[in-house]
Amino acid sequence: MSKVLVTGAAGFIGAHLSKQLCLAGFQVIGIDNLNTYYTPQLKKDRLSTLENFDSFKFIEMDITDEVALQELAKEQVFDYVIHLAAQPGVRYSFEDPHSYIQNNYVGTFTLLNVFKDKNLKHFLMASSSSVYGNALDAPFAVATHNTDHPISLYAATKKGTESLAHTYAHCFGLPITALRFFTVYGPWGRPDMAVYKFTDKLYKGETIDYYGDGKPLRDYTYVDDIVTAIVKLTQTAPQSNYNIFNIGNNTPETVATLINTLEELTSQKAKLNPLPLPPGDVDKTCADVDPLKQHIGFHPATSLKKGLSQFVNWYKQYYNL
Ligand SMILES: NC(=O)c1ccc[n+]([C@@H]2O[C@H](COP(=O)([O-])OP(=O)(O)OC[C@H]3O[C@@H](n4cnc5c(N)ncnc54)[C@H](O)[C@@H]3O)[C@@H](O)[C@H]2O)c1
Repeated sequence: MSKVLVTGAAGFIGAHLSKQLCLAGFQVIGIDNLNTYYTPQLKKDRLSTLENFDSFKFIEMDITDEVALQELAKEQVFDYVIHLAAQPGVRYSFEDPHSYIQNNYVGTFTLLNVFKDKNLKHFLMASSSSVYGNALDAPFAVATHNTDHPISLYAATKKGTESLAHTYAHCFGLPITALRFFTVYGPWGRPDMAVYKFTDKLYKGETIDYYGDGKPLRDYTYVDDIVTAIVKLTQTAPQSNYNIFNIGNNTPETVATLINTLEELTSQKAKLNPLPLPPGDVDKTCADVDPLKQHIGFHPATSLKKGLSQFVNWYKQYYNL
């Protein structure tokens, strides 16, 4: 049975991924520091959904703790590392810039440094669509779009981790794939993200901050589509030592459409507070997913309406509405 280390396993994508990996027959060790960027109770509740899998084990651990990671790598022989732990969010970098450098840059360096000589079959890691900055011509393609001009500290650290990864792939022959995720949403989602925040405010009758007249476009990608792609990439030999793929939906929608659809699904009317787009936020995102289609036959299968309906159902169940 292949063994996978998933970092950020109590996180939104990490918990979904850990479950799918167990169902696909992998043995999974998940680590997470359960930090308080958003309520750790949600992280613990996600972990409780994994309790029934004998092939899943959780260890509370910080990825910047090199000694603890070295111990773990001595005790266990991993075939794969899937690195999702990070300080996410664009706007929070104005409040706590250090957490981005520490968790994203130093954390990724620490993992790469520990696993550079452990004969991994593949090291996969989360990057982000934010590395494209305010690129104009959509869809954004790995091969043609410049990523030298990030416009948020979050994006800068993600771009920095891609550079670190390239160096480790080149110098140590470690096969690495960086995955640029595009606005992931779904059940157990992050409370700091639009889908969760808007749903929460709709049910509580609170006002929604409505940036840029609802015009910003986002390539909302359902979590199951992201996770299916990651599992397939884990089961497929990497094309070369260093690879980058977009994982997105290739169907951008406006924030206005997002709110309208959530209004319909919750049967609530939104109260909107119009505001300019904050610094760091980009105007649009849209993924070119053709290379991923060619490599693993990836097809995003979930429409925004279907995915939002799954989210709203989960939200109602979780909060007993
Ligand atoms: N959700 C999205 O839309 C999206 C988009 C692009 C990229 N990403 C990337 O995907 C990955 C997963 O995102 P998510 O939405 O699941 O976020 P999340 O915050 O729900 O999950 C990240 C997890 O990492 C943990 N963590 C953070 N720092 C850590 C550290 N130093 N040591 C151990 N654990 C630590 C957190 O406690 C959290 O549980 C992140 O790398 C994120 O940057 C997410």
